[in-house]
Amino acid sequence: MRNRFQFDPAEVRVETAAPLPAALDLGSRDLHVEIGFGKDIRTLREAEAHPDALFLGVEISRKKVVKFCQKVARAGLRNVRAYLGDARHVVRELLPPGSVASFTILFPDPWPKRRHHKHRWIQDDTAALLAAALRDGGQVIVATDHDGYAAQIERCLRGAGLSLEEKREEVPEADRSLFAQRFERLGETVTWMRAQRRAP
Ligand SMILES: C[S@@+](CC[C@H](N)C(=O)[O-])C[C@H]1O[C@@H](n2cnc3c(N)ncnc32)[C@H](O)[C@@H]1O
Repeated sequence: MRNRFQFDPAEVRVETAAPLPAALDLGSRDLHVEIGFGKDIRTLREAEAHPDALFLGVEISRKKVVKFCQKVARAGLRNVRAYLGDARHVVRELLPPGSVASFTILFPDPWPKRRHHKHRWIQDDTAALLAAALRDGGQVIVATDHDGYAAQIERCLRGAGLSLEEKREEVPEADRSLFAQRFERLGETVTWMRAQRRAP
C-alpha cells in the first residue's frame, strides 16, 4: 500500500487525523520543516546532506508541491515528505509539542500594505505555535526582504520565548533560496535570523 506521504503528484493532498510525526513514521529521526518552499530546492539539498533526518516541506500551492515531488522522485530521496496546504493547519493541528528540530521560513510573503498585515504568516499566534512544536535546542530560521516584517518577526519570535541567536543582513549559503538570490541580484537588503528554543 502506498505510504500517504510519498510522492505521487496525484495524491499530494494529505489528510490525516494522526499527529504528523506518527504518520511520518519519524522514529528517532530529527524532523526539519520548511514552510513555503516555493520553487526552491533547499530542502532537497539538506535532505541529501543529512540522510538520517526527515524533511517535511509545506506549501500552499499545488503546482509547486507537484514540481517539488517530481524533483524529490528524480533525486531518489527517501527522507523528504511534502504537505500540500496551509502551514497554519500543520503547526496548529499536526505537530505535537517538542517534535520538531527546525523550522525554516525563507521570504514569506511580506504583505507590505498596512491593511494587509493581518495576512502575514508570522504573527504572535503562529510564532507561539512554532515555539511549542520545537524540541529544546530546536531552531527557527527566517529570512525576509521587508524591514517592517523583519521587526515584526523578531518581536513575535522573542515574544514566543525563543532566543535570537543570530541576525544578519545576508543569507548564509545553505539558505540562499531562489528569492534570496533574486534579492541579491537586485541589491536589496535582507534580514536573516536564527532563533532557538532554550531548555527551561
Ligand atoms: C515569496 S515565496 C518564497 C519561496 C521560497 N521560500 C524562496 O525563498 O525562494 C513564498 C511561498 O510561501 C507559500 N505560502 C504562502 N502562504 C502559505 C501558507 N499559509 N502555507 C504554506 N505555504 C505558503 C507561497 O505559495 C510561496 O511559494
